[in-house]
Amino acid sequence: MKNRINQLLEEVNQLAAANQDELEALRIKYLSKKGQISELFNDFRNVANEDKRDVGQLLNELKNTAQNKINELKDAFSGNENTDNKTDLTRSADPIKLGTRHPLSLVKNEIIDIFSRIGFTIAEGPEIEDDWHVFGALNFSPEHPARDMQDTFFIEQNPDVVLRTHTSSVQSRVMTNQKPPIRMLFPGRVYRNEAISYRAHCFFHQVEGLYIDKDVSFADLKQALMYFAKEMFGENTDIRLRPSYFPFTEPSAEMDISCNICGGKGCPFCKHTGWVEILGCGMVDPNVLENCGIDSKIFSGYAFGMGVERIANLKYQVKDLRMFSENDVRFLQQFESAY
Ligand code: DAH
Repeated sequence: MKNRINQLLEEVNQLAAANQDELEALRIKYLSKKGQISELFNDFRNVANEDKRDVGQLLNELKNTAQNKINELKDAFSGNENTDNKTDLTRSADPIKLGTRHPLSLVKNEIIDIFSRIGFTIAEGPEIEDDWHVFGALNFSPEHPARDMQDTFFIEQNPDVVLRTHTSSVQSRVMTNQKPPIRMLFPGRVYRNEAISYRAHCFFHQVEGLYIDKDVSFADLKQALMYFAKEMFGENTDIRLRPSYFPFTEPSAEMDISCNICGGKGCPFCKHTGWVEILGCGMVDPNVLENCGIDSKIFSGYAFGMGVERIANLKYQVKDLRMFSENDVRFLQQFESAY
């Protein structure tokens, strides 16, 4: 019996199979109920008592070896039935799943792209700002009621340090540090103390634009904004400018575009008016230029500011603003094909 076991051990150690069928045949031959190893276990009854210990050990060794060998071969086949157990170096690699850009980044990049084609460059500023850059330089006097327009987060009870409520604060910094001509965009995150709901959040994103040079006029502003609206929302988009008020621009306006969801016919999104507001704008107030050290007798300029979420809503019709910051992959995956 020992001889037989040793002979089988040798055999089993050299097992090889070319495919799954051959492997299955080997399993049946050695390990199934009627297989050779099982038969040896049946014969074990007849082994003399004094030999049982040695033979039993050897038999178990045979069984384990066979089992391991078969498992080893099985592993080599799993996943690819036709493999010959060698690595196929010509096989194309599994596609790597690339991440996707966040919809707000897509929209921000598109805005930047459109304005960069007419000469705008980019600057960024700090999100934690001092009162001067967010309000003071921009013509909000200390008691100005316009400060109430934006509910401000203050840092550590210090009324001088705030989370910026708008990216207009970067205007103040750039105008103070650079000489005109200035033609720049300031993208970034802003914060307001608002109750979070489907239509408001305590942080959101803006892109601010600023152009300062000699003889810049309101017509230049309108032209630039019309170009932007058509590039962003399509050739047939109309714009309208409504008089408005901002402390840092004079005159000030808000710009509406013809609703690109219903084509201007009226729908729930545009509250059946056919128009949706997308940005605030105006001619930079001479006080602001002077506050930042720019001679308002020589230079004039325009500025505008838009909310990225708002533009993204128009483009993608995201009904709940909170989705932009919830990191739900089911939402984010929908933007996989966008560039
Ligand atoms: N800062 C304004 C806001 O957050 C938006 C804005 C309006 C920016 C008019 C401007 C502007 O540059 O000229 O509501």
